[in-house]
Amino acid sequence: MTGTFTDTRMPPRLLAPGGAPADRATHETRYGPLTHTDPAALLRTLAESGLTGRGGAAFPTYRKFVSVVDAARRTGRTPVVVANGAEGEPASAKDKTLLSLSPQLVLDGLRLAAQATGAGEAYLAVEDGSTRLETAVAERDDPFPVRVVRVPGRFLSGQSSALAQHLSGHTALPRHQDPPVREQGVRRAPTLVQNVETLAHLALIARYGADWFRSAGTPSEPGSALCTVHVPGREPQVVEAPFGMPLRRLLPLEGTGAVLLGGYHGTWLPATEAAQLRLSAANLGAGVLAALPADRCGLAETARVLRYLALESAGQCGPCLNGLPRIAAAFHTLAVPGPQGTARDDVARWAGLVEGRGACHHPDGTVRLVRSALTTFAAELDAHARGLCTATDRTPLLPVPDHRS
Ligand SMILES: Cc1cc2nc3c(=O)[nH]c(=O)nc-3n(C[C@H](O)[C@H](O)[C@H](O)COP(=O)(O)O)c2cc1C
Ligand code: SF4
Repeated sequence: MTGTFTDTRMPPRLLAPGGAPADRATHETRYGPLTHTDPAALLRTLAESGLTGRGGAAFPTYRKFVSVVDAARRTGRTPVVVANGAEGEPASAKDKTLLSLSPQLVLDGLRLAAQATGAGEAYLAVEDGSTRLETAVAERDDPFPVRVVRVPGRFLSGQSSALAQHLSGHTALPRHQDPPVREQGVRRAPTLVQNVETLAHLALIARYGADWFRSAGTPSEPGSALCTVHVPGREPQVVEAPFGMPLRRLLPLEGTGAVLLGGYHGTWLPATEAAQLRLSAANLGAGVLAALPADRCGLAETARVLRYLALESAGQCGPCLNGLPRIAAAFHTLAVPGPQGTARDDVARWAGLVEGRGACHHPDGTVRLVRSALTTFAAELDAHARGLCTATDRTPLLPVPDHRS
């Protein structure tokens, strides 16, 4: 997997040219030293930058920092900061690519986050690559302990409360959102969890300022974002692109029937609709863009992903534990040409029953995918009901981990 930059009108930001991992010396030569030390000034710059989280929800980063600072003041507890590099989404490779090419940028962001919130300890949570990252940490002189922690390779491991549970010595499963992790997270301390890409952007904002950050993207959605682009017959590619870039410049849409936008908690769109869209924090999700050729079956792709998502349910909440496998099984019926019985109505009904009923957003993200598939592949659904499938190529496109497929 290589990282590339897409916009020739703007110099690379997170993904430096050359594609070689940067050690500390190379990193400092490339980006310059990190001199920002005043927490109040950093928070002001962060607010002016308009940075939003790149872990899926696009939450304003400044607001989360302030919540953690306020919770620490109220409770008298020293906060904890966590760089979330779990990347549980199987179709995403942006965080692993960033950590492999520019680990020091992420660690700079983690240090800044700790300074701005007054944290006493910091974690970098990853599924793999911990030895290489420990070496990167050892090259630094951070004034507080930074620990690299391995999380289980599961879809839910990167959910913020699951991560806080894991770092507190418990199983990496989500817990109820109230109180939120920013108030009571790791060992009940106010905890700032930020995606590793968000932290890397912060490291550049601290160096070059809010105006520099805003010189890419749009006024309402400033900056660039990392995306994992899936095109059939090609290795997935991680690219950096400014918000506002037309999607058709990121994905070749000729011969494409539909596009998956955001990842397995994202949405399917007809290619004709995707061709009118621009890259936006509102549709970016986990940064996955996948082009499904017109000769493949979107229902079969969705059914495989839904089975995986159902198996990844943490099994703690009834609607998720019972509902997701039922949705996945009914969707499997829809994906096979032939009699569908009540499967279409069942999927729609169960989607309504699980939505908003989980401790975490896993059911909601799954329902989003289901509903978009029912709409985008409506013609294919009708064909399947008549016993026909228009797909001529049955090669799976979207990656689903083997051991759970
Ligand atoms: C089911 C589920 C899985 C998630 N997995 C990840 C993940 O692997 N990596 C990540 O950064 N955020 C993940 N998130 C989002 C985190 O809960 C959290 O919002 C995010 O790390 C915050 O960082 P950000 O504000 O910088 O985006 C997940 C959320 C859900 C609901
Ligand atoms: S909603 Fe599902 S995945 Fe989330 S905590 Fe409940 S059972 Fe686990």
